[in-house]
Amino acid sequence: MRMVDLIEKKRDGHVLSKEEIDFIIKEYTNGTIPDYQMSALLMAIFYQDMTDEEITNLTLAMAYSGEVIDLSSIKGIKVDKHSTGGVGDTTTLILAPLVASVGVPVAKMSGRGLGFTGGTLDKLEAIPGFKIELSDEKFTEIVNESQVAVIGQSSELAPADKKLYALRDVTATVNSIPLIASSIMSKKIAAGADAIVLDVTTGDGAFMKNLEDARRLAHTMVRIGKLANRQTMAIVSDMSQPLGEAIGNSLEVVEAIETLQGKGPEDLLEMCYVLGSQMVVLAEKAATLEEARSMLEEALHSGKALEKFKEMIRNQGGDEQVVDHPERLLTAKYEIELPAQTSGVVTKLVANEIGIAAMMLGAGRQTKEDSIDYAVGLKLHKKIGDQVAEGESLLTIYSNKEAVEDVKKLLYANIEIGENGEEPPLIHDIITE
Ligand code: URA
Ligand code: CA
Repeated sequence: MRMVDLIEKKRDGHVLSKEEIDFIIKEYTNGTIPDYQMSALLMAIFYQDMTDEEITNLTLAMAYSGEVIDLSSIKGIKVDKHSTGGVGDTTTLILAPLVASVGVPVAKMSGRGLGFTGGTLDKLEAIPGFKIELSDEKFTEIVNESQVAVIGQSSELAPADKKLYALRDVTATVNSIPLIASSIMSKKIAAGADAIVLDVTTGDGAFMKNLEDARRLAHTMVRIGKLANRQTMAIVSDMSQPLGEAIGNSLEVVEAIETLQGKGPEDLLEMCYVLGSQMVVLAEKAATLEEARSMLEEALHSGKALEKFKEMIRNQGGDEQVVDHPERLLTAKYEIELPAQTSGVVTKLVANEIGIAAMMLGAGRQTKEDSIDYAVGLKLHKKIGDQVAEGESLLTIYSNKEAVEDVKKLLYANIEIGENGEEPPLIHDIITE
């Protein structure tokens, strides 16, 4: 097989076979196929698209390009959840104990935040003592006994994807549905998932700025999940404004606790019920999404889900008392209000830029080497569609430095107050097949 022939084949709109795709991924990962040929193929895929079967073969080839985690010693159907990214997305902290409390095993390996705000691991490490590294034996034992553990990824999963992603990044080929779908699904499969729930976000704070593209990506991933023998469901959710109210690591731990206590923001709770219901159904603990939702509501209202969160913290060496005494988490030196400059209705709360403002305070990393300040961040008091009076606080800035003029300036530039604004729909689509 010669790479040049395969590039030509795709360039002319033909379908690559499984053998051809396996060859490309194997020889590219080991360095035999050079970047310039791979770049040409990526551009051909960008323009010619791929069939579901091609995307499935590409996904599996990338998933098996390195180690594939074997979770078979954990009993039950392991359902993983993945979000294509958002600002202030606290869902995993809530979902993990919530679905575990109704008997769904959650053996989750999370990544660190590379974007502006901290990732799930950073948020968990905001809890004093919490360990995100466990031996394989300990991880298995905890999930089998207690149904839930969230740890850091120990080895490099799907190395082909890592190498390809870096190449896509510099060849203007990131934004291609077959390439995004195979990239995401390959990592989920390599992480050992039996079934997958996807939150495909859309809007300004998301990868897919446009709703139609987000829908196509979600449908594509659900179809290829099935072809790869992993039951998959998805939602398309709105990320034109941050999710919930808190953005920042300790602040989001508190938000997760409050949500598990039934006192959290409504949008965040709703998102957890919708994603959680899909997880419960895929784990075969309920026959319908409605039945799954009532189980989750019961677990939350009875306090079972909150108890499970305490147990998860205790099992992983953390201070479970933070649940009843959130003041034990790091708190910032300064709390600075951001008053509205006019009266009206909030019409815009640009998620992306608000995430950057939180990063400037130290809640996220600008480069991989940056360290995170767990205490800092933002807490929104107003969301799109809310009335606000001049002088009323739009949000609180939690900072460890007194001078935050640059942060304030960025926030004001990205919060719009107008005559009329409507709350955007939280969930655009629920895709079960
Ligand atoms: N997230 C991924 O993991 N891969 C992509 O290609 C895009 C978003
Ligand atoms: Ca949040």
